[in-house]
Amino acid sequence: MDTNLFLDGLWYLATPGARLKPGRSLGISIAGLPIVVVRRPDGSVYAVRDICPHRGMPLSIGAIKDDGDIECPYHGWRFNGSGQCSMIPSLCEGQDVDISKISVATYPVTEQQGLVWVFLGVRDEHSPDLPPMVPDMPDGLPQLIESQTFACHIDHAVIGLMDPAHGPFVHAAWWWRTARSIHTKAKKFVPSTRGFTMASHAPSSNSGFYKILGGPKTTEISFQLPGIRIETIRAGKSIINILTAVTPVDAKTTQVTSIFFWKLSGLPALLPVVKPLLAWFTGRFLGQDRDAVVLQQIGLAYDPKLMLINDADTQARWYFQIKHMWSRARADGRAFVNPITETTLRWRS
Ligand code: FES
Ligand SMILES: [Fe+2]
Repeated sequence: MDTNLFLDGLWYLATPGARLKPGRSLGISIAGLPIVVVRRPDGSVYAVRDICPHRGMPLSIGAIKDDGDIECPYHGWRFNGSGQCSMIPSLCEGQDVDISKISVATYPVTEQQGLVWVFLGVRDEHSPDLPPMVPDMPDGLPQLIESQTFACHIDHAVIGLMDPAHGPFVHAAWWWRTARSIHTKAKKFVPSTRGFTMASHAPSSNSGFYKILGGPKTTEISFQLPGIRIETIRAGKSIINILTAVTPVDAKTTQVTSIFFWKLSGLPALLPVVKPLLAWFTGRFLGQDRDAVVLQQIGLAYDPKLMLINDADTQARWYFQIKHMWSRARADGRAFVNPITETTLRWRS
Protein backbone atom coordinates (compact mmCIF):
# COMPACT_ATOMS: atom_id res chain seq x y z
CA MET A 1 0.00 0.00 0.00
CA ASP A 2 1.28 3.41 -0.96
CA THR A 3 1.20 5.67 2.09
CA ASN A 4 1.33 8.73 -0.12
CA LEU A 5 -2.00 7.55 -1.54
CA PHE A 6 -3.68 6.67 1.63
CA LEU A 7 -4.58 9.10 4.36
CA ASP A 8 -5.29 7.26 7.57
CA GLY A 9 -8.51 7.78 9.49
CA LEU A 10 -10.88 8.97 6.77
CA TRP A 11 -13.98 7.90 4.87
CA TYR A 12 -13.61 7.04 1.19
CA LEU A 13 -16.42 6.80 -1.32
CA ALA A 14 -16.91 3.12 -2.19
CA THR A 15 -19.87 3.30 -4.54
CA PRO A 16 -23.21 4.97 -5.07
CA GLY A 17 -25.66 2.79 -3.13
CA ALA A 18 -27.91 2.27 -6.17
CA ARG A 19 -25.12 0.33 -7.88
CA LEU A 20 -25.19 -2.28 -5.13
CA LYS A 21 -28.42 -4.30 -5.31
CA PRO A 22 -29.60 -6.46 -2.38
CA GLY A 23 -27.88 -9.84 -2.39
CA ARG A 24 -25.01 -8.56 -4.52
CA SER A 25 -21.43 -7.57 -3.92
CA LEU A 26 -18.95 -5.26 -5.55
CA GLY A 27 -15.19 -5.66 -5.60
CA ILE A 28 -13.31 -2.38 -5.51
CA SER A 29 -9.83 -1.10 -4.84
CA ILE A 30 -9.14 1.89 -2.64
CA ALA A 31 -5.54 2.98 -2.24
CA GLY A 32 -4.46 -0.41 -3.48
CA LEU A 33 -6.57 -2.29 -0.92
CA PRO A 34 -8.88 -4.95 -2.35
CA ILE A 35 -12.28 -4.51 -0.73
CA VAL A 36 -15.60 -6.22 -1.33
CA VAL A 37 -18.70 -4.27 -0.41
CA VAL A 38 -21.73 -6.47 0.21
CA ARG A 39 -25.41 -5.63 0.39
CA ARG A 40 -27.30 -8.25 2.35
CA PRO A 41 -30.75 -9.25 1.11
CA ASP A 42 -32.18 -7.09 3.95
CA GLY A 43 -30.49 -4.01 2.46
CA SER A 44 -27.75 -3.50 5.04
CA VAL A 45 -24.13 -3.23 3.89
CA TYR A 46 -20.75 -4.43 5.08
CA ALA A 47 -17.23 -4.43 3.68
CA VAL A 48 -14.44 -7.00 4.04
CA ARG A 49 -11.08 -7.62 2.44
CA ASP A 50 -11.65 -9.07 -1.03
CA ILE A 51 -9.25 -11.96 -0.58
CA CYS A 52 -10.30 -15.33 0.76
CA PRO A 53 -8.00 -16.30 3.65
CA HIS A 54 -8.05 -19.90 2.44
CA ARG A 55 -6.26 -19.65 -0.91
CA GLY A 56 -6.60 -16.09 -2.04
CA MET A 57 -9.67 -16.13 -4.27
CA PRO A 58 -11.41 -12.75 -4.61
CA LEU A 59 -14.55 -13.11 -2.50
CA SER A 60 -16.35 -10.58 -4.71
CA ILE A 61 -16.75 -13.30 -7.35
CA GLY A 62 -18.72 -15.40 -4.88
CA ALA A 63 -22.39 -15.49 -4.00
CA ILE A 64 -24.25 -13.73 -1.22
CA LYS A 65 -26.31 -16.17 0.83
CA ASP A 66 -29.79 -15.50 2.24
CA ASP A 67 -28.34 -14.57 5.64
CA GLY A 68 -26.02 -12.05 3.95
CA ASP A 69 -22.82 -14.08 4.33
CA ILE A 70 -20.45 -14.10 1.36
CA GLU A 71 -19.41 -17.46 -0.07
CA CYS A 72 -16.03 -17.95 -1.69
CA PRO A 73 -16.47 -19.38 -5.22
CA TYR A 74 -13.47 -21.71 -4.87
CA HIS A 75 -14.23 -24.03 -1.91
CA GLY A 76 -17.35 -22.43 -0.52
CA TRP A 77 -15.95 -21.00 2.71
CA ARG A 78 -18.38 -18.44 4.05
CA PHE A 79 -17.77 -15.20 5.92
CA ASN A 80 -20.20 -12.92 7.73
CA GLY A 81 -20.29 -9.13 8.01
CA SER A 82 -17.97 -9.27 11.03
CA GLY A 83 -15.39 -11.01 8.84
CA GLN A 84 -15.87 -14.24 10.76
CA CYS A 85 -15.71 -17.55 8.89
CA SER A 86 -19.12 -19.15 9.31
CA MET A 87 -18.74 -22.34 7.30
CA ILE A 88 -16.19 -24.64 5.68
CA PRO A 89 -18.17 -27.11 3.55
CA SER A 90 -15.35 -29.68 3.21
CA LEU A 91 -15.09 -30.33 6.97
CA CYS A 92 -16.18 -33.73 8.19
CA GLU A 93 -17.33 -34.46 11.68
CA GLY A 94 -14.40 -34.74 14.04
CA GLN A 95 -11.99 -32.71 11.93
CA ASP A 96 -10.61 -30.16 14.33
CA VAL A 97 -10.43 -26.93 12.39
CA ASP A 98 -11.48 -24.11 14.67
CA ILE A 99 -13.41 -21.89 12.27
CA SER A 100 -13.83 -19.25 14.98
CA LYS A 101 -10.11 -18.52 14.49
CA ILE A 102 -10.52 -17.88 10.76
CA SER A 103 -11.52 -14.42 9.66
CA VAL A 104 -11.09 -11.80 7.01
CA ALA A 105 -10.38 -8.11 7.72
CA THR A 106 -13.41 -5.82 7.86
CA TYR A 107 -13.87 -2.13 7.17
CA PRO A 108 -16.38 0.22 8.77
CA VAL A 109 -19.00 1.10 6.20
CA THR A 110 -21.81 3.65 6.17
CA GLU A 111 -24.52 4.45 3.68
CA GLN A 112 -25.74 8.01 3.79
CA GLN A 113 -27.51 10.21 1.25
CA GLY A 114 -27.48 7.26 -1.14
CA LEU A 115 -23.70 6.82 -1.05
CA VAL A 116 -21.69 3.97 0.44
CA TRP A 117 -18.49 4.99 2.19
CA VAL A 118 -15.70 2.87 3.64
CA PHE A 119 -13.44 3.98 6.48
CA LEU A 120 -9.73 3.25 6.16
CA GLY A 121 -7.25 3.30 8.98
CA VAL A 122 -7.57 3.71 12.70
CA ARG A 123 -10.84 5.00 14.16
CA ASP A 124 -10.31 7.21 17.16
CA GLU A 125 -11.50 10.45 18.73
CA HIS A 126 -9.66 12.51 16.09
CA SER A 127 -11.15 10.78 13.07
CA PRO A 128 -14.54 11.75 11.63
CA ASP A 129 -17.52 9.70 12.87
CA LEU A 130 -19.35 10.02 9.60
CA PRO A 131 -18.56 10.63 5.94
CA PRO A 132 -19.09 14.08 4.40
CA MET A 133 -22.68 15.13 3.76
CA VAL A 134 -24.11 17.63 1.33
CA PRO A 135 -25.88 20.47 3.17
CA ASP A 136 -29.59 21.13 3.62
CA MET A 137 -30.94 17.84 2.34
CA PRO A 138 -30.62 15.21 5.09
CA ASP A 139 -32.65 12.65 3.12
CA GLY A 140 -31.25 13.72 -0.21
CA LEU A 141 -30.64 11.02 -2.78
CA PRO A 142 -28.40 11.30 -5.84
CA GLN A 143 -30.20 12.55 -8.93
CA LEU A 144 -27.36 12.14 -11.34
CA ILE A 145 -24.02 10.35 -11.09
CA GLU A 146 -21.08 10.60 -13.44
CA SER A 147 -17.97 8.57 -12.70
CA GLN A 148 -14.71 8.40 -14.60
CA THR A 149 -11.37 6.75 -14.18
CA PHE A 150 -8.36 9.03 -14.40
CA ALA A 151 -5.05 7.37 -15.24
CA CYS A 152 -3.06 9.38 -12.71
CA HIS A 153 -2.08 9.62 -9.06
CA ILE A 154 -4.79 11.12 -6.82
CA ASP A 155 -2.78 14.31 -6.25
CA HIS A 156 -2.93 15.28 -9.91
CA ALA A 157 -6.64 14.52 -10.09
CA VAL A 158 -7.35 16.62 -6.99
CA ILE A 159 -5.27 19.63 -7.92
CA GLY A 160 -6.47 19.40 -11.50
CA LEU A 161 -10.08 19.66 -10.34
CA MET A 162 -9.49 22.54 -7.93
CA ASP A 163 -7.25 24.41 -10.34
CA PRO A 164 -9.02 27.61 -11.42
CA ALA A 165 -6.68 28.53 -14.25
CA HIS A 166 -7.20 25.62 -16.63
CA GLY A 167 -10.89 26.32 -17.32
CA PRO A 168 -10.55 28.57 -20.35
CA PHE A 169 -8.03 26.18 -21.92
CA VAL A 170 -9.17 22.67 -21.04
CA HIS A 171 -12.89 23.43 -20.96
CA ALA A 172 -12.97 26.00 -23.74
CA ALA A 173 -16.13 25.81 -25.84
CA TRP A 174 -18.28 28.50 -27.39
CA TRP A 175 -21.26 27.44 -25.27
CA TRP A 176 -19.29 27.31 -22.04
CA ARG A 177 -16.54 29.84 -21.86
CA THR A 178 -13.77 30.95 -24.12
CA ALA A 179 -10.23 32.20 -23.67
CA ARG A 180 -11.55 35.63 -24.64
CA SER A 181 -13.90 35.74 -21.65
CA ILE A 182 -10.96 35.56 -19.22
CA HIS A 183 -11.19 38.16 -16.49
CA THR A 184 -9.77 38.83 -13.05
CA LYS A 185 -11.47 37.03 -10.19
CA ALA A 186 -11.09 37.51 -6.47
CA LYS A 187 -12.48 34.81 -4.18
CA LYS A 188 -12.54 34.66 -0.42
CA PHE A 189 -11.48 31.39 1.19
CA VAL A 190 -12.02 30.35 4.78
CA PRO A 191 -10.81 27.29 6.68
CA SER A 192 -13.37 24.48 7.03
CA THR A 193 -13.49 20.85 8.14
CA ARG A 194 -10.22 19.19 7.04
CA GLY A 195 -9.95 21.71 4.23
CA PHE A 196 -11.13 25.06 3.00
CA THR A 197 -14.17 26.72 1.51
CA MET A 198 -14.55 29.25 -1.23
CA ALA A 199 -17.05 31.45 0.58
CA SER A 200 -20.53 31.96 -0.82
CA HIS A 201 -20.48 34.32 -3.77
CA ALA A 202 -22.30 35.07 -7.01
CA PRO A 203 -20.99 32.53 -9.51
CA SER A 204 -18.76 33.42 -12.36
CA SER A 205 -20.71 35.12 -15.13
CA ASN A 206 -18.74 33.22 -17.77
CA SER A 207 -19.65 29.75 -16.50
CA GLY A 208 -22.22 28.04 -18.71
CA PHE A 209 -23.89 25.83 -16.11
CA TYR A 210 -25.07 28.79 -14.06
CA LYS A 211 -26.62 30.50 -17.05
CA ILE A 212 -29.24 27.80 -17.42
CA LEU A 213 -30.35 28.21 -13.80
CA GLY A 214 -31.69 31.75 -14.14
CA GLY A 215 -32.48 34.07 -11.20
CA PRO A 216 -30.19 35.33 -8.44
CA LYS A 217 -27.84 32.67 -7.17
CA THR A 218 -24.92 31.98 -4.93
CA THR A 219 -22.37 29.25 -4.93
CA GLU A 220 -20.11 27.90 -2.23
CA ILE A 221 -17.39 25.32 -2.81
CA SER A 222 -15.73 23.34 -0.06
CA PHE A 223 -12.86 20.94 -0.26
CA GLN A 224 -11.90 18.41 2.39
CA LEU A 225 -9.58 15.45 2.73
CA PRO A 226 -9.19 12.88 1.33
CA GLY A 227 -10.48 14.49 -1.89
CA ILE A 228 -14.05 15.60 -1.46
CA ARG A 229 -15.37 18.72 -3.16
CA ILE A 230 -18.88 19.92 -2.44
CA GLU A 231 -20.37 22.70 -4.51
CA THR A 232 -23.62 24.18 -3.27
CA ILE A 233 -25.63 26.38 -5.60
CA ARG A 234 -28.65 28.24 -4.33
CA ALA A 235 -31.08 29.95 -6.68
CA GLY A 236 -34.20 31.27 -4.96
CA LYS A 237 -35.73 28.30 -3.10
CA SER A 238 -33.81 25.79 -5.13
CA ILE A 239 -30.64 24.13 -4.01
CA ILE A 240 -28.24 22.02 -5.99
CA ASN A 241 -25.38 20.15 -4.39
CA ILE A 242 -22.63 18.56 -6.41
CA LEU A 243 -20.37 16.23 -4.46
CA THR A 244 -17.24 15.18 -6.28
CA ALA A 245 -15.30 12.36 -4.67
CA VAL A 246 -11.75 11.78 -5.82
CA THR A 247 -10.83 8.29 -4.68
CA PRO A 248 -7.39 6.72 -5.09
CA VAL A 249 -7.72 3.29 -6.72
CA ASP A 250 -3.97 2.66 -6.82
CA ALA A 251 -0.84 4.73 -7.38
CA LYS A 252 -1.66 5.31 -11.04
CA THR A 253 -5.44 5.24 -11.06
CA THR A 254 -8.02 7.54 -9.53
CA GLN A 255 -11.78 7.33 -9.61
CA VAL A 256 -13.55 10.68 -9.93
CA THR A 257 -17.28 10.62 -9.23
CA SER A 258 -19.57 13.63 -9.43
CA ILE A 259 -22.94 13.23 -7.75
CA PHE A 260 -25.74 15.75 -8.15
CA PHE A 261 -28.40 16.25 -5.49
CA TRP A 262 -31.18 18.80 -5.84
CA LYS A 263 -34.34 20.26 -4.38
CA LEU A 264 -35.94 22.46 -6.97
CA SER A 265 -38.74 24.98 -7.29
CA GLY A 266 -39.64 27.65 -9.82
CA LEU A 267 -37.78 27.70 -13.12
CA PRO A 268 -34.96 25.40 -11.96
CA ALA A 269 -37.67 22.70 -11.41
CA LEU A 270 -37.26 22.12 -15.14
CA LEU A 271 -33.76 20.81 -14.51
CA PRO A 272 -34.81 17.11 -14.48
CA VAL A 273 -36.12 17.60 -18.02
CA VAL A 274 -32.63 18.47 -19.15
CA LYS A 275 -31.07 15.67 -17.09
CA PRO A 276 -29.76 13.80 -20.15
CA LEU A 277 -28.19 17.04 -21.33
CA LEU A 278 -26.71 17.66 -17.89
CA ALA A 279 -25.37 14.09 -17.80
CA TRP A 280 -23.76 14.56 -21.20
CA PHE A 281 -22.36 17.88 -20.17
CA THR A 282 -20.92 16.60 -16.89
CA GLY A 283 -19.43 13.57 -18.64
CA ARG A 284 -17.83 15.77 -21.23
CA PHE A 285 -16.54 18.19 -18.63
CA LEU A 286 -14.98 15.46 -16.47
CA GLY A 287 -13.70 13.82 -19.64
CA GLN A 288 -11.80 17.00 -20.52
CA ASP A 289 -10.15 16.96 -17.09
CA ARG A 290 -9.37 13.25 -17.49
CA ASP A 291 -7.83 13.77 -20.94
CA ALA A 292 -5.72 16.65 -19.60
CA VAL A 293 -4.20 14.55 -16.80
CA VAL A 294 -3.62 11.66 -19.22
CA LEU A 295 -1.64 13.96 -21.52
CA GLN A 296 0.14 15.40 -18.50
CA GLN A 297 1.50 11.90 -17.78
CA ILE A 298 3.62 12.15 -20.91
CA GLY A 299 5.58 14.96 -19.30
CA LEU A 300 5.40 13.62 -15.76
CA ALA A 301 7.07 10.40 -16.94
CA TYR A 302 10.32 12.42 -16.97
CA ASP A 303 9.75 13.36 -13.33
CA PRO A 304 10.21 17.09 -13.93
CA LYS A 305 10.32 19.59 -11.08
CA LEU A 306 6.89 21.23 -10.89
CA MET A 307 5.84 24.75 -9.97
CA LEU A 308 2.91 25.98 -7.96
CA ILE A 309 2.41 29.71 -8.40
CA ASN A 310 0.43 32.30 -6.46
CA ASP A 311 -2.51 32.69 -6.44
CA ALA A 312 -3.80 30.32 -9.11
CA ASP A 313 -2.09 27.32 -7.51
CA THR A 314 -2.56 28.34 -3.89
CA GLN A 315 -5.39 25.84 -3.40
CA ALA A 316 -3.08 23.09 -4.66
CA ARG A 317 -0.47 24.24 -2.14
CA TRP A 318 -3.07 24.14 0.60
CA TYR A 319 -4.05 20.63 -0.41
CA PHE A 320 -0.48 19.40 0.01
CA GLN A 321 -0.15 21.30 3.28
CA ILE A 322 -3.38 19.91 4.72
CA LYS A 323 -2.45 16.41 3.62
CA HIS A 324 0.91 16.71 5.30
CA MET A 325 -0.58 18.12 8.52
CA TRP A 326 -3.25 15.42 8.60
CA SER A 327 -0.68 12.63 8.18
CA ARG A 328 1.50 14.07 10.92
CA ALA A 329 -1.39 14.53 13.31
CA ARG A 330 -2.46 10.92 12.70
CA ALA A 331 1.07 9.60 13.19
CA ASP A 332 1.37 11.53 16.48
CA GLY A 333 -2.13 10.56 17.64
CA ARG A 334 -3.28 14.15 18.07
CA ALA A 335 -6.02 16.35 16.63
CA PHE A 336 -5.54 17.89 13.21
CA VAL A 337 -5.04 21.64 13.24
CA ASN A 338 -6.10 23.32 10.04
CA PRO A 339 -3.23 25.46 8.71
CA ILE A 340 -5.48 27.57 6.45
CA THR A 341 -6.39 31.11 7.43
CA GLU A 342 -8.91 33.38 5.75
CA THR A 343 -7.45 34.56 2.45
CA THR A 344 -8.64 36.25 -0.72
CA LEU A 345 -7.11 34.71 -3.80
CA ARG A 346 -6.93 36.49 -7.15
CA TRP A 347 -6.42 35.02 -10.58
CA ARG A 348 -7.50 35.48 -14.16
CA SER A 349 -9.69 32.83 -15.71
S1 FES B 1 -9.95 -20.01 -1.77
FE1 FES B 1 -11.73 -19.38 -0.79
S2 FES B 1 -12.61 -21.19 -0.10
FE2 FES B 1 -10.75 -21.81 -0.90
FE1 LIG C 1 -11.52 20.98 -14.98
